[in-house]
Amino acid sequence: MSMKYEEQKAKIENIVSQPLRKFKPEELKGIVERYGRNHKKSKEAFERARKILPKGVEHNLAFNFPFPLESKKVYGCWMETIDDIKLLDYLMCGGPIILGHNYKPHTDKIIDLIKEVGPCHGITHEYEYKAAEALQKHFPSCEMIRWLQTGTETDMLALRVARIFTNKKWVIKIGGSYHGWADQLVYDMHIPGTKRMESHGIPKEIYKWIDSCPPNDIEELRRMFKEKRRKVAAVIVEPMGGESGANPVRPEFNKEVEELCHENGALMISDEVVCAFRLHMGGGQAYFGYKPDLSVFGKIVGHGYPSAAALGGRADVMATVAGGVGGGAKKAYCGGTLAANPLTCAAAYWAIKYVEETNATEKAGRAGTRLSKGMNEVFEKYNLPWFSYNYNATVHFHTSCVFGIDITDPIQGPQIKERKEFMEHLGAALVDQEIISVAGSRFYTCMQHSDELVDRAIQGLDNICQKIE
Ligand SMILES: Cc1ncc(COP(=O)(O)O)c(C=O)c1O
Repeated sequence: MSMKYEEQKAKIENIVSQPLRKFKPEELKGIVERYGRNHKKSKEAFERARKILPKGVEHNLAFNFPFPLESKKVYGCWMETIDDIKLLDYLMCGGPIILGHNYKPHTDKIIDLIKEVGPCHGITHEYEYKAAEALQKHFPSCEMIRWLQTGTETDMLALRVARIFTNKKWVIKIGGSYHGWADQLVYDMHIPGTKRMESHGIPKEIYKWIDSCPPNDIEELRRMFKEKRRKVAAVIVEPMGGESGANPVRPEFNKEVEELCHENGALMISDEVVCAFRLHMGGGQAYFGYKPDLSVFGKIVGHGYPSAAALGGRADVMATVAGGVGGGAKKAYCGGTLAANPLTCAAAYWAIKYVEETNATEKAGRAGTRLSKGMNEVFEKYNLPWFSYNYNATVHFHTSCVFGIDITDPIQGPQIKERKEFMEHLGAALVDQEIISVAGSRFYTCMQHSDELVDRAIQGLDNICQKIE
């Protein structure tokens, strides 16, 4: 980690307690005009798409201001849009890519499999257990593994398994965390304390047995265990902190959660969807040093192929996961016509092998550290309160710092919209520099982000800072 937690917290408070630093109006106008001029084809494609796709866009991590871009192809650490603009890619598909896009040895294995084996069989294929073994090698806490298709449904299954195993109902999540979009977990997401703010269309009764704890507050979590008379089935965490560490974790917190869970007969669920093979080969649990009962995987385990995700955990806990047909014992029902198909399991198996072979996690982490350090130098040079930190290959840069808002504060609370809009402006300003980011506030690195390409991004940020009031 590039910056101490106390310093991260102080800097976030410093940003949200002062007025937002915005673009000079004429600079923003220029950015928007150039964006329109340079991406005419994307604009036309968007007009067509919005007639058939709600809002004209299905992906929510690349911001869409002033309108979404259309990608033509991706390779290495590049994305080419249909406008023939070559963007330096720090979106990395929202996290799954660490070897670089369309990494040839990986792609070749998939093509061979499609040609020679067939992508989907409907019964067990050797890649199913070979991929599980490859994953387990790095996650010894996962004595048994079940393949699924998305992080969202894997988090759903984790909750179901925990409730069956413990025979308890309460699940506590940490405020601001994202665990996919299943009904029960669309709660207190993004900005801690917002509770049901984003839960439209979900009856409030769904949250009868769900609660959230403010980030990093172990004493409050202890109090919640008491309040719920220890009827807590599980606590689920994002290891780096909410939103992949946009709300940074206090490094001891995960271990404290583990201990508290076990003192109270509850399970700890580690949502490793982003962390596995990005933060560390052994994910958040190896990086921060704790042992969860259940782990949730997604993203890099499929390395961009649709759709690999997995639940892993203690053998006795995982024994509650249903398999095959037939009822009887109390089991956590789960399914998926395409789950564990040879294509996604092969994608997982070979992704893990190539990450091991190339040292991709370490290389991408080094790029992240260089990027974060360089950005901080730029922010200091322009005397901005902005700052960056990285958890290896996940690099955050806080500018408007919407995630840090205290929604109970009468001055900060109403600023959510304006601070979010600024991130959109920043996303567009980065595209103006031919860089694509995650939501104008995060960069994911891969092993192909060389020093030169990192420095190019730093220079892009420098150019942007010159446009700030
Ligand atoms: C920590 C975490 N958990 C779960 C998910 C959901 O995974 P999926 O998008 O595969 O449903 C995400 C997705 O970004 C995530 O970051």
